[in-house]
Amino acid sequence: IPYHPFFFSSKKDYLCLSLIGSNHLLYTLTQDGDGDEGSGEDDSHKAFDPCNHYTALDQAWRATNYTTKNVACDRRVQWKGWYRLFYRGKPIQMPERCVRKEMCGTHSPLWLVGGHPRIRDGVVTRKVCGNWKNNCCMFKSPPIQVKACRGNYYVYKFVKPVACHMAYCADINTVVCGKCRKTESCISRDKITWMCKKNKMRMKVNVHFFVTYPASISGKVNRIMYRKVYVNQGGAFNTRTGIFRAPVSGVYQFFFSTQTRGSGTTDLWLVVNNYWVAMSHSNVQGSSSVGNLSTYMTTLRKGATVYVTHNRGRSWAISASNTIVFGGSLLMVRKI
Ligand SMILES: *[C@@H]1O[C@H](CO)[C@@H](O)[C@H](O)[C@H]1NC(C)=O
Ligand SMILES: *[C@@H]1O[C@H](CO)[C@@H](O)[C@H](O)[C@H]1NC(C)=O
Repeated sequence: IPYHPFFFSSKKDYLCLSLIGSNHLLYTLTQDGDGDEGSGEDDSHKAFDPCNHYTALDQAWRATNYTTKNVACDRRVQWKGWYRLFYRGKPIQMPERCVRKEMCGTHSPLWLVGGHPRIRDGVVTRKVCGNWKNNCCMFKSPPIQVKACRGNYYVYKFVKPVACHMAYCADINTVVCGKCRKTESCISRDKITWMCKKNKMRMKVNVHFFVTYPASISGKVNRIMYRKVYVNQGGAFNTRTGIFRAPVSGVYQFFFSTQTRGSGTTDLWLVVNNYWVAMSHSNVQGSSSVGNLSTYMTTLRKGATVYVTHNRGRSWAISASNTIVFGGSLLMVRKI
């Protein structure tokens, strides 16, 4: 019996095996629950999941590199329920490409058309084709159901193929997939060479900040030290330095404002990676006062710095006025 760690993982696994011939091994695995009893949840209504209830099909002759010696015919098999493919104890999956005839221990090898599903697809129906006479789909076999399971494997609901001699293939190139970790997926561009690749972290990053300067400013201030923090989601704005630092690469939108005090010119600049990129400029006469809000949107690399400089003039604010403000948001995460 090939060793599968899966078998002995829980006392509640039952193993039943039948030997058919010398190299034909079939066993049925039934898992009762998944060991999370005591959670207080009533799981008696848990839906049947073929990922936990399948028959392991470990027949080396099904491999795509196995030439015909015994001519198998899956039409003679009484298929029942769901199956998971193994090659000498190692998980393996159906080929997603046409397999040369006279392989997989049969005349016309059966392969899966349309590829394997993803976990979120649930149970899908896929066409099955048998190659013969250089026609990859000479035999259109009845479709089968397929499901992707957690742990990088698939289960198939095999049915009798359209005729003899045809057999469901096990793609020997996918043996490597059994080595993929939980955080990896088994992928292939050409459906020939397979490899484990780390799953992309689909993390949700929230970056928003809104800070203000609670007093008036006169003349040149290299970096406005906004110290009243209303929002600093993601902690990317540093109140000690007055600098916002992009925590991830992506598209960002910023805004900054002032309210002039007295006559003359007041200029504020938004400084991105030490470049002065946007200005809030106002020129007022006499004792009038204007508010001025500027916005700027840009793509930033992780680590980029953004702050506001008060280049000249006078800006008015008191603690409650929120007239000298700086804020921004990460609109979308994007690799640059
Ligand atoms: C098929 O490939 C496997 C894995 O690479 C290898 O162990 C086996 O000997 C090959 N079988 C044949 C018949 O070539
Ligand atoms: C606000 O700033 C912009 C950009 O510097 C400038 O074009 C505009 O005239 C200013 N608005 C007022 C009311 O001063």
